[in-house]
Amino acid sequence: MTSDEKLRALFDAARAIRAKAYAPYSRFHVGAALLGGDGRIYAAANVENAAFPQSQCAEASAIGVMVAAGCREIAAVMVVAGAAGDDAVAPCGGCRQRLSEFAAPEVLVHMADESGIKTSRSIGELLPFSFGPKQLVP
Ligand code: THU
Repeated sequence: MTSDEKLRALFDAARAIRAKAYAPYSRFHVGAALLGGDGRIYAAANVENAAFPQSQCAEASAIGVMVAAGCREIAAVMVVAGAAGDDAVAPCGGCRQRLSEFAAPEVLVHMADESGIKTSRSIGELLPFSFGPKQLVP
């Protein structure tokens, strides 16, 4: 598969899983797909809760799917949310931290709506001067 085809597959996965979002409170549906270091795609959606702070972002859900499958490395991220004409939806601060646990600074986060990618930024751009596992390992 070419890298273009991989990106397309990542986009298709994020767009498809977005339909599974459980977001009755915000009605803001988000799909996230991670390209694992193993070449597989791990996708999930946001899961809200009546106790609002307990809601889970799509990125966090997708990380759970990836780790449960035995993969611990992210090679690329795709987030599908929002509508055409709106600003790109970027991962929240907490999810930038969650993603950086498994993604090197140069890994790209692609932000898309239903019709395609709007913009892309690296993890290092989204979360500069970050705290990570390296601080804990002697
Ligand atoms: N949300 C995500 O799932 N990912 C993001 O990158 C931004 C926000 C979710 C959380 C909540 O369910 C809804 O969008 C509105 O904040």
